[in-house]
Amino acid sequence: MIRFAKLFCCLFTCFLIFNYVSAQEKLSFNKGWKFYQGDIPFPEIQGHTNTYSNAKAGKAWGAAAPEYNDQSWRSVILPHDWAVEGGYDSTQNVSQGYRKRGIGWYRRHFKLSNADRGKHLEIQFDGIATHATVWFNGTVVHRNWCGYTSFYIDITSMAKYGDELNTIAIRVDANAMEGWWYEGAGIYRHTWLLKRSPIHIATDGVFAHPVQQNQQWTIPVEVTVENHGTQSEEVIVESKLFNAQKIEVATASKQIQLDIFKPQNANYNISVLNPLLWSVEHPNLYTVVTTVKKGDKVIDELTTKCGFRTIRFDKDSGFYLNNVRLKLQGVCNHQDHAGVGVALPDALWEFRLRKLKEMGVNAYRCSHNPPSNEFLNLCDSMGILVLDENRNFNASPEYVRQLEWMIKRDRNHPSIILWSVFNEEPMQGTEQGYEMVRRMSAVVKQFDTTRPVTAAMNGGLFSAKNVSKAVDVVGFNYQINSYDKFHKENPNLLLTSSEDGSAYQVRGEYQNNKQKNILNAYDTEAAPWGATHRNAWKAIAERPFLAGGFYWTGFDYRGEPTPFTWPSASSFFGIMDVCGFPKAAYWIHQAQWRKDIPVLQIVPHWNWPSDSIGKMIKVMAMSNTDSIKLLLNGKMVGAQKVDKYEMNSFQVAYKPGKLEVIGYKNGKEVAKSKVETTDLPVAIQLVAYKNTIDNNGTDAMPVTVRVVDAKGREVPTAQNLIEFSINENATIIGLGNGDPNSHELEKGNQRSLFNGLAQVIIQSKENTSGVVVLTASAKGLQSATLQIPINRVALAPFVPLTASAIYIDSWRMSPFTAVKPDATITLSDNDMNSWFPVKSNELQSFANEQYALFTTNFTLNDVNTKATGKIILKRITGKAEVWLNNVLVGKKDQFAQGDIQVPFESMNGSYKLTVLIESEKNKRSGLGGTITVMPEITSNK
Ligand code: GAL
Repeated sequence: MIRFAKLFCCLFTCFLIFNYVSAQEKLSFNKGWKFYQGDIPFPEIQGHTNTYSNAKAGKAWGAAAPEYNDQSWRSVILPHDWAVEGGYDSTQNVSQGYRKRGIGWYRRHFKLSNADRGKHLEIQFDGIATHATVWFNGTVVHRNWCGYTSFYIDITSMAKYGDELNTIAIRVDANAMEGWWYEGAGIYRHTWLLKRSPIHIATDGVFAHPVQQNQQWTIPVEVTVENHGTQSEEVIVESKLFNAQKIEVATASKQIQLDIFKPQNANYNISVLNPLLWSVEHPNLYTVVTTVKKGDKVIDELTTKCGFRTIRFDKDSGFYLNNVRLKLQGVCNHQDHAGVGVALPDALWEFRLRKLKEMGVNAYRCSHNPPSNEFLNLCDSMGILVLDENRNFNASPEYVRQLEWMIKRDRNHPSIILWSVFNEEPMQGTEQGYEMVRRMSAVVKQFDTTRPVTAAMNGGLFSAKNVSKAVDVVGFNYQINSYDKFHKENPNLLLTSSEDGSAYQVRGEYQNNKQKNILNAYDTEAAPWGATHRNAWKAIAERPFLAGGFYWTGFDYRGEPTPFTWPSASSFFGIMDVCGFPKAAYWIHQAQWRKDIPVLQIVPHWNWPSDSIGKMIKVMAMSNTDSIKLLLNGKMVGAQKVDKYEMNSFQVAYKPGKLEVIGYKNGKEVAKSKVETTDLPVAIQLVAYKNTIDNNGTDAMPVTVRVVDAKGREVPTAQNLIEFSINENATIIGLGNGDPNSHELEKGNQRSLFNGLAQVIIQSKENTSGVVVLTASAKGLQSATLQIPINRVALAPFVPLTASAIYIDSWRMSPFTAVKPDATITLSDNDMNSWFPVKSNELQSFANEQYALFTTNFTLNDVNTKATGKIILKRITGKAEVWLNNVLVGKKDQFAQGDIQVPFESMNGSYKLTVLIESEKNKRSGLGGTITVMPEITSNK
């Protein structure tokens, strides 16, 4: 009986979680964009009428104007990074990876149904690199000054419905730079349209992050609700907590009074008994479903995730997660990947984080900017701790707004353990720096008091007034020689390394060749300010007062090719290369960080030229076992006790064959690894990262390309040029091989292997079925064909596509006259008031007077073909004459509503369009529908 009751309860609550009316729609706005690379200067405004209208809402010029002709622009799907599409250029900025950035324009048209009228509409841009100006229906609606912060635009008041067209135009200035690394160019994160009720939860308006007080878990919930309706209302705000099995475990609510346009907070606590804790090993997540109800009717609903965990920093013993000491085994990273620049499909983020987790990473520093939301969701679900970092160090209003945004968007993520307000700011050791951090820290605390504030300092630590006294946790960048001194002088301060390492390696290279910008991967090369992988970690691991470290960097990134410049274009700092292929450093960290599996790997490869026979070759073994034995062709050539920090090195006289290493723990063999001399490659192999691909057009995966010899052994020294082709079910969105000196294009269908490896990134297409077939071929090698089964999934909701078109909807209307007016009349340029501004799609009330003129001017640009044009005037009520440039071109002789279609030899230039309307007495007549001069052509993807 009890079991039955439980089951019933469970079914009932499951039913509840799914039974809510979905009161808000979040639609992907990634598809259907038009893109132009380059700037489109605004026309010079001349004349009084133009100058007057230029100052008005809705009247943008040039490519910002709704009626601009973008039909010849390229169609793109977001996320998009145009900087990665081109080649390398030595005249471009070294730090940005020698890629041309420049300026670009995006436009998107869309229609809203009449049923959307009355809803609250918001467009959201998760990230545009770098400065963006956004126009909506001809009005500038936002200027964004940070390439890493989202922005949300309420378009409700300016939106058009039914047949009318809405247009978003965005000018992106990527010449602006905010970093000294590759930042990409364009709309490189997701974009959304949200449709909500006029009474709705504000964007980023739910803060529901569990805290533990006196052994009791509570979620202090704060929900910000807005009322954009026309009357004040009483609503119930309620949050229900569900566990991973979708069972409701707790709930709380509050009734609030909502005045119009006055955001109001509802605060209440949810008490939770014995929740499953969130940890790096078991990242248990709960779901908070927050609803706003009017009576019984759910009018808005938002789902957020949360995790129950405690964090604590201790001045002597470092960091604690759930009261268990945990050394932060962290990496710093930028956000670009091979082939795609910064426009990473979410699936690629998952791939990168999985690689890091496999290596033993438990912490990630988003250097030096806030990451995407999807990235943080992945860290929550994979159990990776995050240091979330603000981009711009500045305590003035616009930058405080950016900081506020970061905290408000991110504060529900259990993965986040630290907020960083800066990285290496020259003012860090000054009174000014101290004052700025004090203010910025106060901003953080206003929105979240549960995580400490840090700043990544690379100096100024010992000056009289410095930032270390204004933060909660001091972050050290490259302070290996000051750890002890600082701790001794400041025994009460909480400390972590925020950035360390900066050692150089090129994957698969074991000899320096500085003429060719190549550095070996034995972990001997470090930046003068940095340390090798081994030294950096040893210094942290041996100091309990340091919470941990964040190695610079987990992956290579474009730009900052230190210690070289051209032709090197990517960094050498990565533990993995820009594709995510491991360098030797990967196994050093894995051996040091993973305790749960035996780790054992040897380098280098064993494919040395014949003149190396008999020469001594350095062999490095990376292991977390107790001791290792090295055998060459079955004969023991060395045995050592494992040095857990230094790892183990041997000198071995080269002889082709098999070099094998065996690892022992407690006297028992637990791991083996080998390198073998191979023959020349004979065949290509393609290895997919995942077994299937979802047919939603967004799923993506890296495919590893390698070659094998006749015995099936991978050839780690191969550099063959490989060509790819793919069937109609997917696309190749990028290619890479991890060579920091390569200038091969990252788009296209061919790539050379670099030291045995290359990567092809494929993305699914929508609504396909069957298999994706990727083929790789190369001269003299047997081709490879990879078949990836397609997984059929539902498409995520998106904003329907609307093709480009030119709608003319701003008109001026003459006073009504009893006598038929002259349609060629031109109003004086300084007369703003005799004729009234009206829009099409709206009839006018004619009283006794029977006539009126409607006139507008439009300019056509970029029209390549004559004659395809036509002017279509829909739902004209009254008798009508259509005059183009003072010539009668069309007519309608009945009073009844009807369409007029006028042939139009469209050419670049300015046009005057006038419609003379004769109305029946006391009728509503005029321009009752849309008016297009370049009808929609379907070219959008
Ligand atoms: C640090 C800086 C990083 C990167 C690194 C290279 O000073 O924070 O962004 O430039 O040096 O070593």
